[in-house]
Amino acid sequence: MTENLLYEGKAKKVFTTDEPDVLLHAYKDDATAFNAKKRGSWEGKGKTNATISAALFSYLEQHGVPTHFIEQVDETTVKTKRLEMLPVEVIVRNLAAGSITRLLGFEEGRRFKAPIVELCYKNDDLGDPLVNWHHLRELGVSDEDLEFCEELGLKVNSILAPFFRERGITLVDFKIEVGKDRDGQAMLADEISPDTCRFWDAGTNEKLDKDRFRNDLGGVAEAYAEMLRRVTGC
Ligand code: C5P
Repeated sequence: MTENLLYEGKAKKVFTTDEPDVLLHAYKDDATAFNAKKRGSWEGKGKTNATISAALFSYLEQHGVPTHFIEQVDETTVKTKRLEMLPVEVIVRNLAAGSITRLLGFEEGRRFKAPIVELCYKNDDLGDPLVNWHHLRELGVSDEDLEFCEELGLKVNSILAPFFRERGITLVDFKIEVGKDRDGQAMLADEISPDTCRFWDAGTNEKLDKDRFRNDLGGVAEAYAEMLRRVTGC
């Protein structure tokens, strides 16, 4: 199979394949935070993120969510459909943490009355700013796609929050992305992993996600490995 590098991201390389509508996502051991101002790397990160993301996408597919996922081909590589990505990051929050504590002065750990959905403009140069429908319309995103993004975020949350609860994890918040296939069918894309979610142990509130790296809390590799165990059961 001929593979050509299409794109190298902060934590992944994406390759084209012989099949025009199929991509390979190769997860790296590298990590970045604060819009790549902080960099790091640890052994096993690519494997934990690829495997957690593949397991969650597969679970979501089984629960009626359209996704780009095809299969995990080896420890660090996931085969997906090729999509045209919307320039939108969809964030869903169940408890206050991270940027919303600064935006609205909420105390970390405050549980929201209902999940909060935020839309950000995916643009590294601008630091992925929080925006609203008016901004995104001006940037060329249709109302239909924005509605899809918000509904998808809430649906993913309604499936994954109980999934994690059963595994002793509080799903604090997460970010997803959306793309469209050649036929214009919108679906869940990118990854769902400890890089893109906040996971707290439900008993102790211990952080088991990228905040350990962001905030130099130590035990980063161990936290990711623990999340792999909770998700896959092994
Ligand atoms: O930083 P903030 O609190 O807005 O992040 C909310 C959630 O979205 C966190 O789980 C974070 O890991 C994720 N996120 C992400 N990529 C971004 C911004 C946020 O995965 N560019």
